[in-house]
Amino acid sequence: MFYPIVRPALFKLDPERAHELTFQQLRLISGTPFEGLIRQNLPARPVTCMGLTFKNALGLAAGLDKNAECIHAFGAMGFGFIEVGTVTPRPQAGNDKPRMFRLVEAEGIINRMGFNNLGVDHLVENVKKARFNGILGINIGKNKDTPVEQGKEDYLTCMEKVYAHAGYIAVNISSPNTPGLRTLQYGEALDDLLASIKLKQKELEKRHLKYVPVAVKIAPDLSEEELIQIADSLVRHQIDGVIATNTTLDRSLVSGLKHSEEAGGLSGRPVQTRSTEVIRRLSAELQGRLPIIGVGGIDSLVAAREKITAGASLVQIYSGFIYKGPSLIKDIVTHL
Ligand SMILES: Cc1cc2nc3c(=O)[nH]c(=O)nc-3n(C[C@H](O)[C@H](O)[C@H](O)COP(=O)(O)O)c2cc1C
Repeated sequence: MFYPIVRPALFKLDPERAHELTFQQLRLISGTPFEGLIRQNLPARPVTCMGLTFKNALGLAAGLDKNAECIHAFGAMGFGFIEVGTVTPRPQAGNDKPRMFRLVEAEGIINRMGFNNLGVDHLVENVKKARFNGILGINIGKNKDTPVEQGKEDYLTCMEKVYAHAGYIAVNISSPNTPGLRTLQYGEALDDLLASIKLKQKELEKRHLKYVPVAVKIAPDLSEEELIQIADSLVRHQIDGVIATNTTLDRSLVSGLKHSEEAGGLSGRPVQTRSTEVIRRLSAELQGRLPIIGVGGIDSLVAAREKITAGASLVQIYSGFIYKGPSLIKDIVTHL
């Protein structure tokens, strides 16, 4: 398709500039005859997960469409589901630029965006306007200036606002770029957060007369013991799914490469093996009690299959999509 032609030009630009330019173009062509340039009519491969029917098992991972601006365009490319966000209660600028770096030799990305987003109200308005016949996940987080001890309130505020508009809600407690956020993955802090989220979900289910599943997104940088504790906590609190994994702080697979010392989370091929290991370990622990959405370094059909074999029911891509473009969606959806 066209991506092999435009990629060299995009890769000459600063990554965030390339992102903005691409989004501008996607918004421009959405709903016009030029949409044919990106549309891929792919075979239906329905999968049931968390009580929802996904038209195929491949989703767009969180962080690419933080403000839900291009849902229609990504839907046209063939994704079975799209996870927008991470969104926070109030708009925030995120970290200083530059904050996104390509590690081209490794097909990796380091980012320290810091949840730059226009706030949950803005996202909801965009979602209301969007046309997409797949499942829409909305990924929620906390504002940087909310103390982590009060972080729970930010998640509950976002849940209130997005519940009516989400196919599922993803609770992001694993971004390395919001100080303290990852501490919510452990012990009492996790139990307390999940208990409140479950309570809120029950309350919202009654109010809206619909059940919206909640999935929790975790980091790849967890010990075996921590993973077991998280799995136990997710089951006890009747969480509906787990998304594994977010980006890693580990640089061992990229040492010496340009940008490898930049602060932030590393994604793409360097996180592939670790993320699959986490899925395998989680799957052994969960024994099917809740489904796993596998993400991390999927850059081919083979890599997607590995995640499914390790125990994932659905998969998502971000970095692989940046490196390979929409043909990766076609490869995976058609043959998975
Ligand atoms: C630039 C960038 C921004 C991201 N922002 C978010 C985010 O806001 N929320 C989130 O849950 N994950 C975010 N992620 C993580 C991805 O959703 C995904 O979990 C991770 O990149 C691993 O998948 P990949 O190797 O296919 O990229 C981001 C990743 C990148 C590269």
